[in-house]
Amino acid sequence: MTKTAENTRKILVTSALPYANGPIHLGHMLEYIQTDIWVRFQKLRGHECHYVCADDAHGTPIMLKAQQLGITPEAMIDQVNQEHQQDFADFGVAFDNFHSTHSDENRHFAELIYNKLKSNNFISTKVIEQLFDPEKKMFLPDRFVKGDCPSCGSEDQNGDNCDSCGATYSPVELKNPRSVVSGATPVLKESEHYFFQLPKFEQMLKDWTRSGSLQVEMANKLAEWFEDGLRDWDISRDAPYFGFNIPGTTDKFFYVWLDAPIGYMGSFKNLCNKNPEIDFDSFWAKDSTAELYHFIGKDIIYFHSLFWPAMLEGAGFRKPTSVFAHGFVTVNGAKMSKSKGTFIKARTYLEHLNPEYLRYYYGAKLTSKIDDLDLNLEDFAQRVNSDLVGKVINIASRCAGFVVKKFDGMLSNDIVEQALINEFIAAEPEIAQHYENRDFSKATRQIMALADKANQYIADKEPWQLVKDPTKADEVQQVCSLGINMFKILTTYLKPIVPQLAEQVEAFLNIELTWDGISQPLTNHKINKFKAMMQRVDMEKVNAMIEDSKDNLQAIVNTPVALDPESPLAKDPISDTISFEDFAKIDLRIVKIIKAEHVKGADKLLRLELDLGGETRQVFAGIKSAYQPEQLEGKLTVMVANLAPRKMRFGMSEGMVLAAGPGGEDLWVLNPDDGAQPGMKVK
Ligand code: MSP
Ligand code: ZN
Repeated sequence: MTKTAENTRKILVTSALPYANGPIHLGHMLEYIQTDIWVRFQKLRGHECHYVCADDAHGTPIMLKAQQLGITPEAMIDQVNQEHQQDFADFGVAFDNFHSTHSDENRHFAELIYNKLKSNNFISTKVIEQLFDPEKKMFLPDRFVKGDCPSCGSEDQNGDNCDSCGATYSPVELKNPRSVVSGATPVLKESEHYFFQLPKFEQMLKDWTRSGSLQVEMANKLAEWFEDGLRDWDISRDAPYFGFNIPGTTDKFFYVWLDAPIGYMGSFKNLCNKNPEIDFDSFWAKDSTAELYHFIGKDIIYFHSLFWPAMLEGAGFRKPTSVFAHGFVTVNGAKMSKSKGTFIKARTYLEHLNPEYLRYYYGAKLTSKIDDLDLNLEDFAQRVNSDLVGKVINIASRCAGFVVKKFDGMLSNDIVEQALINEFIAAEPEIAQHYENRDFSKATRQIMALADKANQYIADKEPWQLVKDPTKADEVQQVCSLGINMFKILTTYLKPIVPQLAEQVEAFLNIELTWDGISQPLTNHKINKFKAMMQRVDMEKVNAMIEDSKDNLQAIVNTPVALDPESPLAKDPISDTISFEDFAKIDLRIVKIIKAEHVKGADKLLRLELDLGGETRQVFAGIKSAYQPEQLEGKLTVMVANLAPRKMRFGMSEGMVLAAGPGGEDLWVLNPDDGAQPGMKVK
């Protein structure tokens, strides 16, 4: 199938922009691998396809995280951007461009879209009341307020919902609210906000839902939202905020979710600037005939199927052809968990395992649906070993040796069993359709069924027996050449999923694996010596990866007092040693005890509120025998700041305060010298 100008599609594809305040993990990777497979498929078929992404660099959490690290947000997002790009590259995710939402291009389009929405009367303003941190002098997003649940009274609940009874509410309704940033009691404060008038787009969105090729589940979700009624969307945030100023103001910023999807445009514009032959307008103008697809997770459908098409429409741009949502990754049947070691960072995976294993496993399980996908590690090893190593690569390893040794690497002049190879060729339209529909699991199932046929053929012919009979040399060459040809077609079909393997096959076969080449058998062609292409998945390496992902501090210091004389560590410090590397992972910080109080029903614990210099944490410490709460307030002490939070009977404990002494009354919290500041690192 040769592409002509008429049947070459122009396609722009995006994956959601990862937040710039954390590492990429295997949950994220599902999305980037899914998108990358689809993009590689389109390119392999000869279409003009561009794949862009960026870091999502704005917002309060990013601003606060940078403050906590004592660096500028710009420095932090640059660092994270490099790490993200390296992770993606090492997983074979081949973006045509990876940019940042904190860029000139993005500022340009955010302002342009806002100005157009404004002049088209889609922006209104309204004074609203919100919780404000009087110490930090900032308005508090919901997740930065905690307090007692207004419904069940449960302590220390989030600003918008209760873990204990499941109630949802506004942070203003919380009892005893406190700012997570400073510990201060928030006050209500008025401020003028800017709103995007989403309800004006209801009819357009309904039409778009029906006209596009949205997934059924997504269309249903949209129908629910229409039923609930659309509401104006608050697109502004007050200073201090890390983001873009709203034009015409000095202290108002675009809410991060306004300029995040615009980041798709910003990154594409940046690509066009580098490659002038790509025309920005032909992809984004109202009358564009190019296709535009956004791959996203199910948690962000709202933003992509309501706000984003409405913003585009209101500002005079084209809308997405479709938005494709996927489900969430679970590991071994459960939510990814730091304590179980199943919250696996992309980098940790790469330190232990071949990225193509994961690409294949996700590929073999991905459908076009929004269902969650379980990464079961036993199944993962078994699947990769049996399919890729046991079925596919096995074909080449059984045939190549004879061709190279006996026939100087030359494949036979003709294909025996034309019917068999025809079956491999004839599968092409169906496999292509599965890829196109994002039904990668169906594609791989079909490819593996063909691999079974190839193996069966070789097993029936037994070239290792034939080779013993000198009169059957021709047959050996023909059987093995057919085997190699079947292998060539299979690895071409798999190329979007396992590009590195395909590259090794190309070196082995001395050709480029192309989609057009599927129907053109390799005859009278010289191949190279076969080298092992992929190791089997070693369960020991999988287990080592899990160990590395565990919050290994938890096992060591999971009592509220590190040097509690009853702790095994205090009794037998020698046999229970940790390595220096383990020690280096402990983030010791100077903190100020801003509040200390008795805990009802606890005979050892005090509840402490600690100021880490910009962030407040609650810790339950077993020091009641030694201190009265009022003795502690205002004191500086040392805490382990990166201990995983623990849910205790009395609430969350978010770290550990260090104390020493034989115990009882003789127990002293560690006091740093004068001159220490909350938030300072101890090591
Ligand atoms: N910054 C926003 C997206 C802005 S797009 C204009 C965001 N970032 S994220 O880092 O939280 O997530 C990036 C993508 O990864 C999202 O599509 C999200 O759904 C996906 N995933 C994050 N965790 C995931 C799993 N555990 N499983 C599958 N996908 C997951 O949201
Ligand atoms: Zn509750």
